[in-house]
Amino acid sequence: MAEVIFETEKILVLQAQLGDWDNLNHLLVCKKTSKAAIVDPFEASYWLNICQNNGWELEQAWLTHSHWDHSKGVGGLTHKEIWVHEKESERGWDGPSNREWNHQPLSHVIQQIGELEFEVHCSPGHTPGHVTFIGNGLVISGDCLFLGRCGRTDLFGGSEVAQRDSLLYLRNIMVELPKEWLVLPGHQYTLSDGICPTFISVGELLQNNEALAALDDDNAWKKLEFLAFDDSLAEKARRERAINSKVIKF
Ligand SMILES: [Fe+2]
Repeated sequence: MAEVIFETEKILVLQAQLGDWDNLNHLLVCKKTSKAAIVDPFEASYWLNICQNNGWELEQAWLTHSHWDHSKGVGGLTHKEIWVHEKESERGWDGPSNREWNHQPLSHVIQQIGELEFEVHCSPGHTPGHVTFIGNGLVISGDCLFLGRCGRTDLFGGSEVAQRDSLLYLRNIMVELPKEWLVLPGHQYTLSDGICPTFISVGELLQNNEALAALDDDNAWKKLEFLAFDDSLAEKARRERAINSKVIKF
């Protein structure tokens, strides 16, 4: 069930957890124009109905990255603008997105929805073209940065080196943000103190995030247990890398 988790005079933000992998979807509504963007939709009809019932125009879908659990819903939104970073093609993504960001890693461009502006920061590592949205009191971090840790880097197209660089880059940005801004991740995980929130403040995250705390220490970074897992997804990534290396040889 979608809940309003944040509101100012300019923006309304709804959050819902959808799908088999409990993805956090976020709807951003410009209150002045009633135009809306959905971030990482799992189900198109769910968000189209909410927008229709509230008189909002769902104009754009923004993908933090192209993993299926973050992009499944855009198949039903092909009449809308569907935005993704072009580097997601490096992991085999070929649509149905119809708009592309193409800026360099560790840089940003501005994306507008209605009269709202968000910075779209290219923060690769979990995937080659992962982006993080920052603005209007929010950091929407997808699978790059979770509340207590960060996303895995062992899937096809992932890079531990890029992930560390992206987290350093984002940390430098976040230390300059107001501490009460909210971080909205792509998934909810239990924090070290046992609580399991779906968002926390930038200030709390900077104090407690295990991945950010390890950034300045090579040994601590290497010891992080959530950068890679021994599971079926890792096995699939090994097969994809093997196939890809054979293609390159020809
Ligand atoms: Fe992901």
